[in-house]
Amino acid sequence: MTDKRIFITGGASGLGKAVAMRFARDGFKVCIGDVNDERGIEAEAELKAIAPDAFYLFCDVTKIKHLESVRAELEERWGGVDIVVNNAGVGGTAGSIEDVSLADWQWVIDVNVMGVVRGCKTFTPLFKQQGSGHFINIASAAGLLSAPMMSNYNVTKAGVVSLSETLLVELSSHNITTSVVCPAFFQTNLTESMRSHIGGLHSKVNKLMSRSKITAEDVAESIFEAYMRQEFWVVTHPLERRMWYVKRFSPKVFNMLMQRHAKKLFS
Ligand SMILES: NC(=O)c1ccc[n+]([C@@H]2O[C@H](COP(=O)([O-])OP(=O)(O)OC[C@H]3O[C@@H](n4cnc5c(N)ncnc54)[C@H](O)[C@@H]3O)[C@@H](O)[C@H]2O)c1
Repeated sequence: MTDKRIFITGGASGLGKAVAMRFARDGFKVCIGDVNDERGIEAEAELKAIAPDAFYLFCDVTKIKHLESVRAELEERWGGVDIVVNNAGVGGTAGSIEDVSLADWQWVIDVNVMGVVRGCKTFTPLFKQQGSGHFINIASAAGLLSAPMMSNYNVTKAGVVSLSETLLVELSSHNITTSVVCPAFFQTNLTESMRSHIGGLHSKVNKLMSRSKITAEDVAESIFEAYMRQEFWVVTHPLERRMWYVKRFSPKVFNMLMQRHAKKLFS
């Protein structure tokens, strides 16, 4: 058992909820934030069955004030927090660069990148004051591999990778550690927030998600193990992990494989 405390944004559904359950099972005090009250309250009830003190707070990561009031609440209830998981995200817009509107770019950047920036900016002073803390930032294999027709989502996830790499070094002298999580597809409700200019893409993505052998619970387990071992990279899916190595060591071969993959997916 532990006396540690964890806060998870976007914790009402999918990966956020699975992470909450995993850490709750290990005795962590758990708080989840989300914009979906209905799912938040349902998730809180499930969490309470294993961690009676777990609670849900409405928290929109596009609003710095919401994160600041979560920090104040956690300081009051728990006297601080040990892990902040910047997980809240939306599925972005599928489509070619000329079709995706600037308003859609703003939307996905505001949630997926700026939401993580706001989370790190809000909790870093508290971590420094405590003399410890751990950020778990949820990026995606999309941020490492940049597949075509998903430019705004890819850019946000590459941004989360870069921010996490920066903080890993910048905050290390304060005993603040960081992990970045880069999974490929697994089944969640993410396509509900996805926008698309490509006919039938939602069902294709849903198919890829439902066929994935890796579940949200598996990703949550990898996150838990990475936290315990204090590892930075959490790249959960074997194929995408191999593709990432190929990209680093043989960019030309990577480009050829990506062209082939794009033909299969979009023609
Ligand atoms: N499912 C996948 O295949 C996959 C793959 C790689 C990365 N991810 C990432 O995992 C993270 C979790 O997504 P998921 O797949 O569990 O999807 P999900 O839709 O099931 O969960 C996302 C949660 O974030 C919440 N949310 C959305 N906007 C928010 C905001 N402004 N403030 C607070 N909460 C907000 C939603 O209400 C939802 O509960 C996301 O960052 C996503 O990009 C998912």
